[in-house]
Amino acid sequence: MFGFSDTHLQINFYFLFVNHRNLVIYVTMAYSAKKKQAGVDDMVLISKLKDEEVMENLKKRHATEVIYTYISNVLISVNPYKALPIFGPDQVQEYRGKFRHELPPHIYALAESAYKSLTSEGENQCVIISGESGAGKTEASKLIMQYVAAVSGKGEGVERVKRIILDSNPLLEAFGNAKTLRNNNSSRFGKYFEIQFDNKGDPVGGKITNYLLEKSRVIMQTQGERNFHIFYQLCAGADQSIRDEYGISQASDYHYLNQSGCYTVDNIDDASEYNDTIKAMDTIGINAHQRKEILKLVAGILWLGNISFVESGTGSEISDPRILDFASDLLGIQSQVLKDALLFRIITTGFGKTAEVFNVPQTPDQATHIRDGLAKTLYDRLFTWLVGRINDSMDSKNQDVKLLSVLDIYGFEIFDKNGFEQFCINYVNEKLQQIFIELTLKAEQEEYAQEGIQWEPIKYFNNQVVVDLIESSKPKPGIFAILDDTCATTHALESNVADNKLLTKLKESIDNDNFVGRNDDFIVKHYAGNVTYSVDGFTDKNKDQLYNTLIECMQSSTMPFVKQFFPENTREASGKKPTTAGFKIKQSSLELIAALKKCQPHYIRCMKPNESKSSKEFDVKRMLHQVKYLGLLENIRVRRAGYAYRQIYDKFLERFAILSRKTWPSPFVGESKQGCSVLLKDLNIDEKEWQMGKTKMFLRSPETLFDLEERKEKKFYNSAALVQRSFRNFKLKNYFLTMRAEASQLYQNKKERRRLSLNRVFSGDHVNYLNNAQLVEVMKQYEKPEGGLLFTDVLMVPVKKLLRGLKLVNVFGMVTSSHLYVVERVLVKKQFVMNLNHRIKITDITSVGMSCLCDNWLTICNKNENVDDLLLECENKTEFLAVLNDQYKALEKKPLQTCFDNKLTWRSNKKKKKVGQIEFVKDPKHKLALLTAAGNKYIVNVAEGLSPASQPRTIVRPERKRAANAGGGLNRSQSIKKTGAGLQSSLPMSPNIHNYQSPNEVVQPHQQKLKEQQLDVIQEKKESTVQVKSTANAPSRPPPLPRKTTDNRPKLRAAYGYDATAGDELTLKEGDLLYLIEKDPSGWWEGELIATGKRGLFPGNYVQEL
Ligand SMILES: Nc1ncnc2c1ncn2[C@@H]1O[C@H](COP(=O)(O)OP(=O)(O)OP(=O)(O)O)[C@@H](O)[C@H]1O
Ligand SMILES: [Mg+2]
Repeated sequence: MFGFSDTHLQINFYFLFVNHRNLVIYVTMAYSAKKKQAGVDDMVLISKLKDEEVMENLKKRHATEVIYTYISNVLISVNPYKALPIFGPDQVQEYRGKFRHELPPHIYALAESAYKSLTSEGENQCVIISGESGAGKTEASKLIMQYVAAVSGKGEGVERVKRIILDSNPLLEAFGNAKTLRNNNSSRFGKYFEIQFDNKGDPVGGKITNYLLEKSRVIMQTQGERNFHIFYQLCAGADQSIRDEYGISQASDYHYLNQSGCYTVDNIDDASEYNDTIKAMDTIGINAHQRKEILKLVAGILWLGNISFVESGTGSEISDPRILDFASDLLGIQSQVLKDALLFRIITTGFGKTAEVFNVPQTPDQATHIRDGLAKTLYDRLFTWLVGRINDSMDSKNQDVKLLSVLDIYGFEIFDKNGFEQFCINYVNEKLQQIFIELTLKAEQEEYAQEGIQWEPIKYFNNQVVVDLIESSKPKPGIFAILDDTCATTHALESNVADNKLLTKLKESIDNDNFVGRNDDFIVKHYAGNVTYSVDGFTDKNKDQLYNTLIECMQSSTMPFVKQFFPENTREASGKKPTTAGFKIKQSSLELIAALKKCQPHYIRCMKPNESKSSKEFDVKRMLHQVKYLGLLENIRVRRAGYAYRQIYDKFLERFAILSRKTWPSPFVGESKQGCSVLLKDLNIDEKEWQMGKTKMFLRSPETLFDLEERKEKKFYNSAALVQRSFRNFKLKNYFLTMRAEASQLYQNKKERRRLSLNRVFSGDHVNYLNNAQLVEVMKQYEKPEGGLLFTDVLMVPVKKLLRGLKLVNVFGMVTSSHLYVVERVLVKKQFVMNLNHRIKITDITSVGMSCLCDNWLTICNKNENVDDLLLECENKTEFLAVLNDQYKALEKKPLQTCFDNKLTWRSNKKKKKVGQIEFVKDPKHKLALLTAAGNKYIVNVAEGLSPASQPRTIVRPERKRAANAGGGLNRSQSIKKTGAGLQSSLPMSPNIHNYQSPNEVVQPHQQKLKEQQLDVIQEKKESTVQVKSTANAPSRPPPLPRKTTDNRPKLRAAYGYDATAGDELTLKEGDLLYLIEKDPSGWWEGELIATGKRGLFPGNYVQEL
């Protein structure tokens, strides 16, 4: 159990025993001990600054299947070559909302950081993923998108965009990826995926920019490689009707698929991926008709490749005209037109009137070349169309969006034979390395110098020299420039002759240490290694042109889908020099770099641990090579000496001002630079942790930034929670007010009222229920109340004991949405236990009886013959009755039956058929209602109460007139209504209202609402107490007015005790003497306690004027 060595088992184990605390702790410890051995999480912390040390750290981690490591904000990812259980929804939740340092390195942490910056800062973000072919870039890009899709918002439109973003991957991979010797799912195009977010942080659209598809793969693949996946998917997965209609059989039947001898790939099921591709087409809105056209074109390309040629006279002939016919049919072209376009080339000599047109027959090789050119173009344009189609389906048309972009470009690659495509791919990788260097090493160091920050310069290899070798035009033309020049001057020559000319020119003109010209090829010393390029096909591929005859042939297609791919105007010369493939890739690289520079970058550097796609092997030599060329050590050096974060002063202050009272809420008066310094000092941030540049604030370690961010988030969270609570509390007050008014109607003109109960605050829990574990237990035992508890109170029931007379016993009364419970605490064997005395269905209650006087006694009669009726006294009877009535009404759609009479009866023991009697007598001698037993009945003597017509008052607090309020005192507006005189129950008020509803239970909306509101109001009470305290102590409050020696102000005496419920109220003890300051017509008076000089508000009906 403890000897396992993989993370997978450990994680499962954790979940398996999640309820067994001890085990969890044990396993967690084993896990972290293991983690400890697995090197350092952030290689800024490695002990020796050596490439070998970096490699060793990665090796240790690889051995324990830890694939992610940081170098500060750069994520290093080592391809595990096996599925690890670290990418599920649980991990998404784990990393969601966290800061990078809080959890072990993970791609989700990087995605979270990018998403968080986008949503909180509103800045565009980009994730630049680099690494050689097979290092894991595409997998990484998909994980980023999955994470962002998982953590961003919901809603129909948003979900649609998310689906397109995620489903576009299988579609693009089907058409743009292929098995190579380096990678079974190698991207043969570059992809820059921009996800567009609205200001709520929800994805509302997207855009893909694609770069240079390796179209030569359509016609030929090296041994052991395959064509693009879609061809094999079609052969393996298409249904019979498609197979029959488009002539689809097995892959080995097609020339374009059978040259390399490789048809299947380990772990790729072409048939099932075919279904994924079709599903993805559906998601992006490609309808069945369009889908068929796409598949027909793919089949057309396969059949085109099967057309072969034989020599005939000066030209050639089609070997098998039936194949020509079938291919023509699939492309919607007459076979004769296609035949002519393949077998002849029209050449025009001379200009104007002297121009002569020749129809030059082509040799079989030349005809094959034309056929392949057409196949490549068709596929390339189909691919571009698909990207455009995905873009159309994601187009949000919303201009006001923020971008999170992911760059997944084909990786650096070296084959035995490298051609024009590898040259372009490696050039783009060279450019990416350059931007990495620019932004992480060069720019950073330049910035320190510019800002006057203390700094020790660090040396690194700058590959700009290689970039110049390839792309420069002036003063010394680079390889692309020489290639373009050669193409422009050799159009009449055969391509092999032109290629040789190119090599000669390169050797003559280039004088750069990173270039070596040889007899048949040339070497470029790239940042990632030396690559030998064969010039074979360079000029032809660079020209990237179709003959006009071929274009016109395709324009004659009867299929609009095919025809749209050939919009060229062949009749008129455009006058412009045709653009070359080299020019295009250079241009798009420039645009890409410009786009990246506009975003806040995040880097993932993918590494490939071996060439055999093995999950076990860690090829030390290979990894050391990558460590070196990726410049990881330099990266560590710069980070060690440098500052993790910098920001211009204005923005820095704007971002963190909220953290200090010196900068918030009143804005800092003075220079932003000074404000930043005041802020950090006020927050006690160690001065070694920050330096002030000329225009920017620099923070040394990322932890300092995270600390500030965390503090900020907490602040935001607290503020938001306060607003929420206040709002809910306001709603709850309204709810109770309505209920109290309704309850009053029940008594109206029927029962005398007590001054205290008339205006009492309704609050739900009067017994601090959750703190009473025994009570909670007993309730759970008997029933799961459906709607949670709505009312709890201590009630009194009379008990007549033989020889011991009458006794009043305290019991707990609880109302749920369905039942009334009475629970008694009794002593059993010297231990207190809870007994459930009564459980009455609310719908069984037949009537609630009360006297017409101002006592608190009630009888509760029910129709269940097994449950006795109740006689009880309830201090909060108005609220009790209101809650019962509310629930009864909800269930029975009619009000609860009530009976007001000074003589009441109830069935006190149904089995024994006993009926209890109680009589109420008005007696001014008794201030409190007094219950006595007289024979078989009870008598209650009750004092005179308020008139039965009394109504609870809605007291509007006067606006505080004190000047003190202007500066931070308690600021209540007139519109906030006080619910009543707020006499607290004699029982402690619960800090939490109870809620033990099981998750599966159905809650009626009004009950749910009440519960939420109850929960919140209790919280709010806690919060507001704290708040009131702090505001009361706020320095802006003016000192109390000087006490007068003789005071003629009117005096008051407190007739009842009153507990203040807010900071501006005054607590009164019965008999306290006060000066009257002001009587507000709302009923709230302001006064000053004579004994202490303390001032405050209190209800006017609690005092007597002297
Ligand atoms: N996080 C991962 N977990 C498991 N396997 C992975 C992971 N990343 C990569 N792999 C494996 O490595 C293979 C190659 O990864 P990927 O296709 O992402 O490489 P790449 O860097 O995009 O290469 P190319 O430049 O050729 O497109 C994947 O097909 C998969 O088998
Ligand atoms: Mg890839």
